[in-house]
Amino acid sequence: MTERVAVVTGSNKGIGFATVKGLCQRFKGVVYLTSRDVKRGEQAVSELNKLNLHPLYHQLDVADRDSVLRFSEYLQKKHGGIDILINNAAVANSRDLYNTYEENKYIVDINYKSILTIQELIFPLVRNNGRIINISSDCGHISNVKNEFWVKTLSKKDLTLKEINEFVDWFLDSSKNNTFKKEDFADDGTVVAYRVAKVAVSALTMLQQKELDGKNISVNSMHPGLVRTDMTLGAGFYNADEAAETPLYLALEAPQSLKGAYVWHDRKVRDWYDHKADYYFKTSALRA
Ligand SMILES: NC(=O)c1ccc[n+]([C@@H]2O[C@H](COP(=O)([O-])OP(=O)(O)OC[C@H]3O[C@@H](n4cnc5c(N)ncnc54)[C@H](OP(=O)(O)O)[C@@H]3O)[C@@H](O)[C@H]2O)c1
Repeated sequence: MTERVAVVTGSNKGIGFATVKGLCQRFKGVVYLTSRDVKRGEQAVSELNKLNLHPLYHQLDVADRDSVLRFSEYLQKKHGGIDILINNAAVANSRDLYNTYEENKYIVDINYKSILTIQELIFPLVRNNGRIINISSDCGHISNVKNEFWVKTLSKKDLTLKEINEFVDWFLDSSKNNTFKKEDFADDGTVVAYRVAKVAVSALTMLQQKELDGKNISVNSMHPGLVRTDMTLGAGFYNADEAAETPLYLALEAPQSLKGAYVWHDRKVRDWYDHKADYYFKTSALRA
């Protein structure tokens, strides 16, 4: 029988690391811990080895096309395909709630554009009945967007990739040209690049689902809760192991019929299209 394979991106620390740990304990197959930095990845693997857990390792910088291609070719050759893919790698704004254009572009490249590269180079490896989980955020709910035109566009049931990319470029252009308006986003436009990237990821998830329906692959996006990791500078209500329960649930336990959904950390599906909901991220939570 073909050996089953699970891959978690950006898994040398935080929620990704905890997800690899959980998969090593519960998934019957091979689990890949990946990281952009080899040393940090190997350190993470040796931490798991101490717990008698044995993930395989491969370098993967999701924002580096050559790195994604190398990993894809390696997986193809070694396993012929994969069964679970958890797109976890991401960066957040620094301590500042507003960022420069260069910082915004960096965040968008890693958090959103990398998923397009992975879609092109790694999705074809996902076998029939496989599962893809895009780790989004409460920042990825449509209620983070307040600009009327973009709320309307992103709400279209026949939304296209071109339109999602236009949304992202509209924001990046406004950041470059200093025409960005705080009122176009929730919470006074704080951590806006992160919000834009994650909204794009959750919108993209539904398009990806349509593309992969024929292979009965499920693609869902999810919000892990506010979690005490380096990303939040230690603020949050959950630790990484607790937060990993949602991706683990989606990867291992959720019904295969759960498709194209936006899933909250209590495992409930939330209506992504409800732009009036207050599911958006509030920076005040960081001080709670
Ligand atoms: N923590 C929260 O409260 C929270 C809330 C909502 C959503 N999320 C989402 O949950 C996921 C995990 O976040 P976390 O809190 O665990 O953050 P974290 O502790 O900062 O971990 C992020 C991971 O992504 C990796 N990464 C960053 N850029 C990468 C790249 N170009 N290629 C490969 N890996 C890369 C990091 O590697 P390095 O060590 O090399 O930087 C690190 O391993 C993210 O998608 C995040 O947006 C987190």
